[in-house]
This record gives sequence, structure tokens and C-alpha cells, in this order.
Amino acid sequence: MYLCGNKSPNTMKEIQSIGILTSGGDSPGMNAAIRAVTRSAIFAGWKVYGIYRGYEGLINGEIKEFTSESVSSTIQRGGTILKTARCEAFRTPEGRTKAFEMLHRHHIDALIVIGGNGSLSGAEELAREHDITVVGLPGTIDNDLYGTDSTIGYDTALNTIVDCVDKIRDTATSHDRIFFVEVMGRDAGFLAQNSAIAAGAEAAIIPEDRTDIDQLAQFIGRGIRKSKNSSIVIVSESKKDGGALHYAERVRKEYPEYDVRVTILGHLQRGGRPSAYDRILASRMGVAAVEALKEGQRNIMIGIKNDSIVYVPISKAVKIDKPINRELINVLTELSI
Ligand code: F6P
Repeated sequence: MYLCGNKSPNTMKEIQSIGILTSGGDSPGMNAAIRAVTRSAIFAGWKVYGIYRGYEGLINGEIKEFTSESVSSTIQRGGTILKTARCEAFRTPEGRTKAFEMLHRHHIDALIVIGGNGSLSGAEELAREHDITVVGLPGTIDNDLYGTDSTIGYDTALNTIVDCVDKIRDTATSHDRIFFVEVMGRDAGFLAQNSAIAAGAEAAIIPEDRTDIDQLAQFIGRGIRKSKNSSIVIVSESKKDGGALHYAERVRKEYPEYDVRVTILGHLQRGGRPSAYDRILASRMGVAAVEALKEGQRNIMIGIKNDSIVYVPISKAVKIDKPINRELINVLTELSI
């Protein structure tokens, strides 16, 4: 069942070859997606070009024809075999024109981009400015793309975090300490909120809730350590307010009686073998991307809603904020008494 799409049969030209790239932060399952797109496109009789180092490599012509063997034994590997980059040049119209010329030179009819918000925004701009069909796959651990219940890599990262927090809990309990654990997610609290629930943390401090209410004060007000010897607070990273270090410092100042520690999980959250869920999601989405191209869809992102593949206009996926389910906030609050 497909939500909506951008089908435009009048401008449809028959696809004979596609390019595929990964861009932005890598996420576990990207390889499974590359494999699925490659094999599904070859199955359709198309040529497939792997583009290395994201948009940077596209501009520089780091392009190689892929065969079915190019993606052998990759489904279980973390990272991305195509490598990835954050490309400044592609943010400019001149950079995007160079990228388009390179696609044209290699006779690539459509581009499949696997990446997060910034990467898909770039894809959308490229498609708006030039005559190229683009299909996006949501590849980010942040899970912050509108129109899909899950992004490729989110489930693996969530499980990695929960595994780490379980270990931190052992030492927190042994020493009667408060731990502030910082997780990735930039402007989105999905990783923090759900890992807090899954690991039985006492609180989560997430960007969606950094309103006028001070979440730390709320947590303390609820009776920090009243009935417990240790506490774990999961904090979404934040450039704005300094993340876990900032909150730990405040507690140290205001409550010197507490023994406070900070763990910043950092990039280990992005690595590792993808979970079975992410492998299946990436495989389904990769096949769906090729199906979408066969149907003449353009400039859409493949999403998953209630276990069905959906097409979401890229412009919507990157511009509309994906809300945190408020019910999750209540679940954590009620269960952390
Ligand atoms: O967008 C994915 C992400 O992992 C964010 O959660 C994080 O803020 C960012 O990438 C880190 O990026 P980099 O690896 O470039 O420092």
C-alpha cells in the first residue's frame, strides 16, 4: 500500500542505468540497502553504478560499475562499502551542476541516495534544479525523517545504546552513582527516549522537550534517588546547551552530595553489524526503490508505515518535523518512579 508519490508519466524516460550513493553519517544497514538496490536493478536488466564518498565522489567522478558480486557478503557489515562524506560543495548550485554533469557523462538516468535529512535535502535540490530522477532511502541512526516509522540503522543503534546502558547500570548500582549518558540524535530525541525506556533509565532529556520547562529540574523535583541508590539519565547530544556534561555540572553544583559521572557514547553508536530488523528493512526499501523507478515515480523517499512500504515526496520527508510520540514520555515518567 503506497501513501503518495510524485508520478509524472509525461516526463518519464525509460531507465537503463542508475547510480547509488551513501551520504552523511553512515548507519548500520546501508550495505544491505546498497546490496538490495544493486541486485534488484540488475534483475530488472539495468546497469548499476556505485558512486563513492557521497556527493563529493559524485562531483569528482569516483564512479564504478557494480555487478551482483560487488555486493557479495556485505549484508552483515556495518558502515558503508561505498564510503560516505559530508560535502560542502554540493550545498552550492555550482556543486550540484557539476554533480549533474557527471551523472550525464556516465549516462545515469536516476540516482538513489541513502542518507539522512541533509543528504536527502541535497537530493531534492539536485532534482529540482536539473533533469534527474532521484529516489531517497532513509539511512540514519537518528530516525528523524518524516513519513517513515523507522530509518535504516535506527534499530541497530538503539540496541547498541541499550547494551551500553545495561553495562553502565552495573557500575552505577555498585557505586550508588548518577550517570548522565549522552547519545546521538542531534535535534531528535528518538534514540534517547526509546533507549531510556528500554534500559529502564530514570529520565531522558530530549530536544523535543527542551521548551520552557527545565527537564532536569523536573527530574530532580520527582525525587532523584529518593527510592533508588543510583540513577541513569539519558541525554540527547546538543550543541546548544552542552548535553550530558552540562547537566552533570549543574547537578554537581546544586547537589554536591550526589556522586555524578558522565558517559558520552559517541560514534560507537553508529558502528556494528546491523540488526536483523535493519537488514530486512534495508532490503525491502532497496527493492522498493527500484520498483518505484519502474513505476515512474520520481523525487520520493521510500518509507515504512505499519509494516507497509510507502512513497513520501522528499520535500515532505525533509521539511516536516517528525514528532516524538508523547505517549512514550508518559511511559518513561510513570515507570521510573
Ligand atoms: O546524523 C547522524 C549523526 O550520527 C548524528 O546523530 C550526529 O549528531 C552526527 O551524525 C555526527 O556526525 P559526525 O560523524 O560528522 O560528527
